[in-house]
Formats: sequence, structure tokens, C-alpha cells
Amino acid sequence: MGEKHHVRFEPVGIEIEVDSDQTILRAAAEQGVALMHGCKEGQCASCKSFVLDGEDIELDSYSTFALPEFEKDEGLTLLCRAHAYEDLVIELLNYDEEMIASGLPLRQGTVEVVANDPVTHDMRHLVVRLIEPEEIKFFPGQYMDFQVPGHHASRSFSMANTPNREGIFEFVIRIYPGGLFSGYLADQLHVGDRLSVEAPFGAFRLRESSTADLVFIGGGAGLAPLLALLRSMAERGLERPVTFYYGARTRRDLCFEEELAKLQEQLPGLTFVPALSEPSGDEEWEGETGLITDVVERRENALDRVDAYVCGPPPMVEAAIAMLTRLGRSEDHIFYDKFTTTGEPEGED
Ligand SMILES: Cc1cc2nc3c(=O)[nH]c(=O)nc-3n(C[C@H](O)[C@H](O)[C@H](O)COP(=O)(O)OP(=O)(O)OC[C@H]3O[C@@H](n4cnc5c(N)ncnc54)[C@H](O)[C@@H]3O)c2cc1C
Ligand code: FES
Repeated sequence: MGEKHHVRFEPVGIEIEVDSDQTILRAAAEQGVALMHGCKEGQCASCKSFVLDGEDIELDSYSTFALPEFEKDEGLTLLCRAHAYEDLVIELLNYDEEMIASGLPLRQGTVEVVANDPVTHDMRHLVVRLIEPEEIKFFPGQYMDFQVPGHHASRSFSMANTPNREGIFEFVIRIYPGGLFSGYLADQLHVGDRLSVEAPFGAFRLRESSTADLVFIGGGAGLAPLLALLRSMAERGLERPVTFYYGARTRRDLCFEEELAKLQEQLPGLTFVPALSEPSGDEEWEGETGLITDVVERRENALDRVDAYVCGPPPMVEAAIAMLTRLGRSEDHIFYDKFTTTGEPEGED
């Protein structure tokens, strides 16, 4: 245990106690304060905030793409890497009143593998059941951290399902050959094996105070949290019009097509638009082709009134944010999770 200090967040006026051994983001999460965050690893910049008062802060390693030196000099910090060594006042630049007070308690637990099946040539559908504690609550779209067996490392994966009484959690996980966790999942993880987890994390949740039409944009395993949002809308009979643009490279990279067809029957306002960026001549494909962001731009004239939810590899998410802002959508209506990786971030401080 380190020294304890008080950190107050403005303009929301919430104060928490922070141990210098933990990051400010972690302390807030443990005290049920859901601050904006994505990767928790100093890479995505979602938690970037301004230090209004106090300067004795130390940062764990982070990417200088997320916090360039000049921004740090101006007083900006990354709450997921920041340790407080005195009382601080922090201005939240990016926060959501609907979310901030609705934080669910963080829980560590053990899960048992129920299924680990290929859904494409390089993606798995991992299904686990909670062994302990009795329950880990989450909002559809949030993610869970898995400890990598035999390593002091964890990896984040978004739940593809909605909360349920059986304690089942489903994931769609892309396999990277040699990937610390996904390689283990591909070669060594069997039904009945147990894994240590912690959840819930993430701010990728449907903002329900809005009634705006929805545009979902996903690529690769970014399908998982978007599927969770669609399943949740179907379960609750939410009838907001939603267009789901999903980018894959080839026909064999598409998955969950049957379920998406069923969801279209359950959600009359749902239009599913899959697109292939590298269609090959010998595959039958009459759908859209090209980069998913180009497909959205081709099909939509103005997006200035929609709520957009974007999820997938960081370059796709960044291209989607740029395209959405070009088509008139302000950033406060664009919600996203970048699937940043943990390996060796470029530009690490
Ligand atoms: C909030 C959040 C949610 C996430 N949700 C999911 C999810 O639902 N499904 C999912 O599959 N992943 C998800 N990820 C990514 C996941 O956490 C891991 O980073 C990813 O699975 C790679 O981990 P690994 O241990 O297998 O590979 P690592 O050992 O970390 O990497 C192995 C090698 O593969 C390379 N590599 C890893 N990832 C990529 C990539 N995306 N593109 C190119 N090269 C890469 C690395 O650079 C490295 O050289 C999420 C990430 C975040 C931050
Ligand atoms: S940089 Fe802090 S959550 Fe990603």
C-alpha cells in the first residue's frame, strides 16, 4: 500500500481516495466511478484529462501518440497510467453524465471454458462460465480482462453476449500466430480449463437517453461488442433504426451471418451491410466491396443526426471517426472501442 490522496473530478464534483500504488482510473473504478476509458494501457487516449491543481503525478509507460510531450507539458495526463502523490483536481475532458455514476463494481473471478470453436479461419468463439464469484455484472458492449496463463500479463476481450443468470460470457477472438493469449487460445486452451478474469471494463455502451438513429461500424473481432448491443436491443424490443456496416477482407472472414439474419427479423429497423475489402474472383459475392469506411461514405449522404458506434482495429476506428466527422457528425455522438494491442507500442515513453 502506498500513500493515500484525494482526487476531485471537475466539472462533475466527484471526489475519490487514491492509493499511490494504483492508477487514478483504477481507484475510480473500484469506487464505482465510471470514467471514460478504452485500453487502460496508455495507448488510446480515451482517458486523457487536464490537471487543474497539483503536479506530483507519475505516469507508468504510455504511448506518446496518446499523450505527446507538448500536451503533457500543458497539463494533460492519462488517468489509466497516472499515480497521484498529492491531492489533485482533475478536469475530465471526455465524460458522460449518463455513465459516470452507473459504474458497476469491478470483480476478479475464475471462469471455465465451455466452448472454443472456430467461426472463421482466424477467429474463435470462446464461451466461458463463471465459477466464482457468483456474479459479475456488466453492460452489453463492455469487456473482460483475461490473465494469460503462466505470464504476468492480461488481455482484454469484449463480451459478445448480454448479461444472463447462467454466468455465461461469450467472446469473438482473432488469432494472431504467436500471440501471447490468442496463440494459447488456438493451441492449448480446452473445454474445462479455467482462467482468471476481471470485469467489467469499458465505456462502450448504448446511450439510451438518446433516440437518434444508430450507425454501427465494425471490423474483424470488433463484431463482438456490436453483436452484444444488437442482442440487447432485440431482447428488450428496442426499435431504434440501426444500420450495421461490417468490414471483412474476404467471404471466409464473415461469421454469425445466420444470427444476424435472425436479428434482422427481430429488429425491423436493422439493416446489415457486410462489405469485403479483398473479394476474390472465385467467391460468389453480390454485396458491397471496398474499405468499410468508403462503403459508409458511398451509401450515406449526411450523418449529422445519428449516434455512431465504432469498434475494431485502431486504424479502422480512426478512419471511421474521420469519415463520420467529415459527414457532419460531432465527436460527442461517436462512441468507440479501439482494439489496441499490448505488445510493444510504437513511440512508447
Ligand atoms: C478494449 C479492448 C477490447 C478488445 N476486445 C477484443 C475482442 O473482443 N476480440 C479480439 O480478438 N481482440 C480484442 N482486443 C485485442 C486483445 O486484447 C489483444 O490485444 C489481441 O488479442 C492480441 O493479443 P495476443 O496476446 O494474442 O497477441 P500479442 O502477444 O499481444 O501480440 C502478438 C503479435 O501480434 C501482433 N498483433 C497483435 N494484435 C494485432 C493487431 N490487432 N493487428 C496487427 N498485429 C497484431 C503484435 O504486434 C505482436 O507482434 C481488445 C483490446 C482492447 C483494448
Ligand atoms: S490511454 Fe488511458 S484508457 Fe487508453
